[in-house]
Amino acid sequence: MKKQKLVVVGGGSTYTPGMIMSLIEEKENFPLKSITFYDTDVERQEKVAKACEVILKEKYPELEAFHYTTDKEEAFSNVDFAFVQIRTGGLAMREQDEQISLKHGVVGQETCGPGGMAYGMRSIGDMIELVNDIRSYSPDAWILNYTNPAAIVAEALNRAFPEDKKILNICDMPAAIMVSYASILKREIWDLVPEYFGLNHFGWFTKLYDKEGNDLTDEIKSHILNHGFLPEDSEIVNDPSWIKTFKQVKTMVTDFPEYLPNTYLQYYLYPQEMVDKEDVCNTRGRQVINGREKRVHSLCDQLIENKTTDGAHLEVDIHGCYMIRVAASLAYNNGDTFIVIVKNNGIISNLQDDAMVEVPAQLTNHGPKPFAVGKIPTFYKGLIEGQLAYEKLVVAAFFENDYNKALQALTLNRTVVNAPVAREILDDMIEANRNYWPELNGNLKVKE
Ligand code: G6P
Ligand code: MN
Repeated sequence: MKKQKLVVVGGGSTYTPGMIMSLIEEKENFPLKSITFYDTDVERQEKVAKACEVILKEKYPELEAFHYTTDKEEAFSNVDFAFVQIRTGGLAMREQDEQISLKHGVVGQETCGPGGMAYGMRSIGDMIELVNDIRSYSPDAWILNYTNPAAIVAEALNRAFPEDKKILNICDMPAAIMVSYASILKREIWDLVPEYFGLNHFGWFTKLYDKEGNDLTDEIKSHILNHGFLPEDSEIVNDPSWIKTFKQVKTMVTDFPEYLPNTYLQYYLYPQEMVDKEDVCNTRGRQVINGREKRVHSLCDQLIENKTTDGAHLEVDIHGCYMIRVAASLAYNNGDTFIVIVKNNGIISNLQDDAMVEVPAQLTNHGPKPFAVGKIPTFYKGLIEGQLAYEKLVVAAFFENDYNKALQALTLNRTVVNAPVAREILDDMIEANRNYWPELNGNLKVKE
């Protein structure tokens, strides 16, 4: 097996130590020659990188090189894979997005509703620049992108790089949900074969089989209806916010029993309930700043100080393992099936071809070979088309500097609906994102 050269873009992310643990766990499936971290934030990356150095020295002695850098040429030259996990504006802007939305009585969420739009308008420019940079130093590298909001980023990258066949956008949420299915079924996640369709953070499992083809869907549904649903992956199993989110799946399956929903649909199907239970002073972004970020940073401090992993609480999670197994399937032509984001092109036959959809695909070294979904029922088609129009309009607003399209996008979003509210949120978002968004021109409100 050829050993791979990997660059992790966004090396300072709080997900990086977990990713390193997953790379160690998966070293037989995805053996590495070198790992480089790249970030624009020197200090944030340095802390994480120095801690990862301690882990790698102990647990990956066969790795030939580990570097971290803020220099693009050093980072991107001669790599086989780039794992891209950036957050333009950081967690501070995530909190802003959530708070602005909530102040207007609308869902305040990282990737759903106005938060998703604001974050999308921040991410697109940096993502395009990154892809250009990676391509100038490593024209053939696989770019696995899990930067959020993945739906909007995927749409934008498809618009900017329509001919690039080696960019793949992925999200770990379907896999995190499958970890819970596996636990219900007392099986391994890798033994499960899903049927799924939708947009990113906006989709449904229609069937779940094992490798022998046994249909396990009803067993999961009746478990959810009778006993509820809980997170099981190590990263989220004890997190009160994720526990609440997974519990909401029972309500969704009760109301719409046809398919098994992605957890993110709660924001679109029960927006009022989501707003009511939020605390504007302690949004999810704030919880992550006070929780995961503090925890990971103190873990890093501990590793750096002790120079050993002894006594350190290190865990493998599905986020890392999923990305790595996706990469392995692309690198070694394994042809394994994963849920990924690809251009529709008839996969969902009654949806426009140029939608970026999230569906199962076989991954080979020629890229994803998605399975046909066929026609989807009216309810799902209606929901998807509204959300897709919102996503496309956000991207169009970015590329065309078009205020009107941004306003149309927010008005279409199920979490907003009211045009005057959409306008107020948009104007506040423009103000808060001055340093990040392109300037938007157009039908600005005439002041009375
Ligand atoms: C899941 C989603 C990601 C999202 C993350 C947020 O993993 O797939 O797209 O960024 O959850 O989790 P957090 O714990 O930061 O709210
Ligand atoms: Mn996601």
